[in-house]
Amino acid sequence: MDNKEIIRLLNIDFVHELEATMIYAYNSFIIQDCNASRLTEAISVDEMRHMWWLADLITKRGGKPTMEHKELDFGGEDLKSQLKRQIQSENEGIDEYVHQIEIIDDEEVVGVLKHILDEEKRHRKEFREILGKMD
Ligand SMILES: [Fe+2]
Ligand SMILES: [Fe+2]
Repeated sequence: MDNKEIIRLLNIDFVHELEATMIYAYNSFIIQDCNASRLTEAISVDEMRHMWWLADLITKRGGKPTMEHKELDFGGEDLKSQLKRQIQSENEGIDEYVHQIEIIDDEEVVGVLKHILDEEKRHRKEFREILGKMD
């Protein structure tokens, strides 16, 4: 796989992390439940850290991170729908990272993606636990 293709794939991840960072940061401002708000805030910081790691991989390979994100979907007005939206975002990231780890043949990139994947799985578990307690 050439550098150009690796950069293209990493930019898909970068934009997804950018969207997750903004969605979680915003939701943490409006969620009333203290635990859910704090967790969402902490995870938004993780997602921003993922942006740094990916941007580092992209620029090292001669690319530029793209900031062209889609229209943001924050979930609905209530905590349940916000958590469901956040779990969906984690699922999308996990699917993408699992796929990319299989097809990318750059050891450094794969190492970083595996680390991010582990964190996304933890995020999903933490959001699911809070959602599960609400039923
Ligand atoms: Fe992330
Ligand atoms: Fe995540």
